Amino acid sequence: MKFDQVDAAVAGTRFMSSKQGRTMYDFIVKHSLPRVLELGFAYGKSSCYFAAAVDELGEGHVLTMDRTDALDRKPNIHELLKKCGLTEHVTPVFAHTSFTWELMKLLEQDPQPRFDFVYIDGGHTWDVTGYAFMLVDRLLAPGGWVVFDDLNWTLAGSPSTRDSGWVKKLSEEERTTPQVRKVFDLLVRTHPGYVDVRERNGWGWARKAPESEASRRRFLGRSR
Ligand SMILES: C[S@@+](CC[C@H](N)C(=O)[O-])C[C@H]1O[C@@H](n2cnc3c(N)ncnc32)[C@H](O)[C@@H]1O
Repeated sequence: MKFDQVDAAVAGTRFMSSKQGRTMYDFIVKHSLPRVLELGFAYGKSSCYFAAAVDELGEGHVLTMDRTDALDRKPNIHELLKKCGLTEHVTPVFAHTSFTWELMKLLEQDPQPRFDFVYIDGGHTWDVTGYAFMLVDRLLAPGGWVVFDDLNWTLAGSPSTRDSGWVKKLSEEERTTPQVRKVFDLLVRTHPGYVDVRERNGWGWARKAPESEASRRRFLGRSR
């Protein structure tokens, strides 16, 4: 499916902007990244952009996760995918509590790395995003990419969280620290298994070392 077609169908739905959708779509098509995992889909707008790219590639699938209450959104992901004609390309998973639990089940089914592109856009806290990255690292194929949204987001700055009871109980530091950025700077940038780590278009991007590079690094690590 061409970008303009999906972009017109999801117009007016909240979250991923048209410009961001274009960046994601082009990246997935250009680098041929057919196996997509998304953490946090909300209305499914970003999932539609990913699905359109997979459709354009002619192979692949999008596995995407959120919580059960995402079913109450208007539109919900099923409705938006149907409107776009992209339902067959996406499997939405509705977690009771957290996608980290669902990632555990994926690893239990098959511990092999099997995604080419992972988009992390949910949780946004040190605990959730940090642990999600650890699990995603196991599932990301060599040469695959992980992208973190909202590097600068804070619990105190977001109208959707700042007045919540649980946020008010946190320390000032926990409320005002951009926690996704902490994960990106402290866990991703420093990770020896990632070769191309950069901040671009407001996202944190990291490429897992391709197999040849990974074995070279293992060899150098051993011979030191
Ligand atoms: C910013 S929205 C996602 C927007 C979507 N990626 C887009 O651009 O169209 C973040 C979503 O993450 C979900 N979320 C946050 N923490 C989560 C968790 N631990 N497990 C599952 N879903 C979570 C929320 O329910 C929310 O729908």
